[in-house]
Amino acid sequence: MLAGGKIELVLDKVFKDHEGKTSLLLKYYKWLYELPVVTASCEVSEKLFQYCLRKKFFVLLLVYDEDGKVFLNRNMSNSLSWGLPGGSIKKDESINQAINRIAKTIHKDMLIGNVEPVTLIENSYYYKGQVVKHYGIGFIARIRNAQSIDFKSLVGDFVAINDEEFSYIKRLASKKVVELFKNRYMDLDLKTDSCFQDEEININELQKKRYQIHNKYVKKYILTDKRKKKQEFNKIMENLIGYPNSICDVSCGEDKFIFKYAREHGIKVIVGNDISWSQVEFLDFDFDEVIFTNHNAAALPFKENVFDVVYCSNTLHHMPNKKVLINLLKSMFRVSKKIIIVEIEDPKITGGFAEFLNKYWYIGYLKDVGGAYLSENQFKVIINEVFKNVANIKFSSFENIMGKYLIAEIEKVKGEEEND
Ligand SMILES: C[S@@+](CC[C@H](N)C(=O)[O-])C[C@H]1O[C@@H](n2cnc3c(N)ncnc32)[C@H](O)[C@@H]1O
Repeated sequence: MLAGGKIELVLDKVFKDHEGKTSLLLKYYKWLYELPVVTASCEVSEKLFQYCLRKKFFVLLLVYDEDGKVFLNRNMSNSLSWGLPGGSIKKDESINQAINRIAKTIHKDMLIGNVEPVTLIENSYYYKGQVVKHYGIGFIARIRNAQSIDFKSLVGDFVAINDEEFSYIKRLASKKVVELFKNRYMDLDLKTDSCFQDEEININELQKKRYQIHNKYVKKYILTDKRKKKQEFNKIMENLIGYPNSICDVSCGEDKFIFKYAREHGIKVIVGNDISWSQVEFLDFDFDEVIFTNHNAAALPFKENVFDVVYCSNTLHHMPNKKVLINLLKSMFRVSKKIIIVEIEDPKITGGFAEFLNKYWYIGYLKDVGGAYLSENQFKVIINEVFKNVANIKFSSFENIMGKYLIAEIEKVKGEEEND
């Protein structure tokens, strides 16, 4: 939740713009991520100064492909050079809309994902002793549909960054973003085991309408037992989550649970993350006080211990392999003091209606991709092994019409790091 930002968000609503939220996000990005600041200043003409007064925020965007090549615009002035695409954030658009608009200036069909900020940029422009500041954010994002884009039609290219190509990037901020990207890409590639889960992201995007039906009608009218037991579930969660200052749902999908909880309990900083932006979009309209992010939870870019609580519900079975499952657990541990995991038991073991629902509704109709379901014993063995000696672990469970939910509360022992 963007604490202290209520007036900005209300004014945004009244005047139908996003400036208040953009400036608040900038403040919270500094708190959530380790972001170096690149500064630059120069004298400008009167007209340029007036132009600068009209623009406040901008985005610099580095789009990379699955081989770690970086899209660079071909710039022409006296000589040829490389530069990153970018532009101002319009008053009536969110940061995410600006990023996607800029990606589409590279190619109109470009789809991106795994968006994350890597640096802040502060430009000061002077005219006759007056100064105007421009605030920028350097983002990196992955192209998701490289196969369907004709690279030859682009004004620029996807470039493998070596010393020679790097020396042809002229702007300081672009250089910094590329430099930061190189380390981050190695980390991302390692932690995600070079698996960017594109199939899942694409299916979620295609099935958007089906999820709307699921939320509007099925959850409400058909899965009524789930609703009836909701209070019981809320009580369990209240005991586990308590009243933290900050919380992150690392794979919220279209689930509102944590955001409603945060509203009711006055949690100050609340982040909703998911690998699929199409899932998060469902929530963005209802919860403008939430910071929504689009990271792979197996390689979260947040600062160490930044969250009091990290929540992960029904996601372990979506991990593509063992390595990524372990990295998801370690990644959550790195950024938080306490992890709460809620995971549906393998529906085949639970049997009955849970198995039927999973087979025909979740997999059959909603096309749910994850299939690496765990038994209660497997859930316990994995968690105990990953967090042995570094956390206090408590297991419990909860049952409703959907099946049996396995719950783990993993509290960091002060000063401990995860097991290797
Ligand atoms: C079954 S849904 C659960 C959604 C929500 N947590 C709930 O309990 O209703 C799984 C969610 O995990 C997300 N997801 C899958 N892999 C992920 C990853 N590596 N990082 C972040 N989110 C991921 C999917 O996009 C999807 O929204």
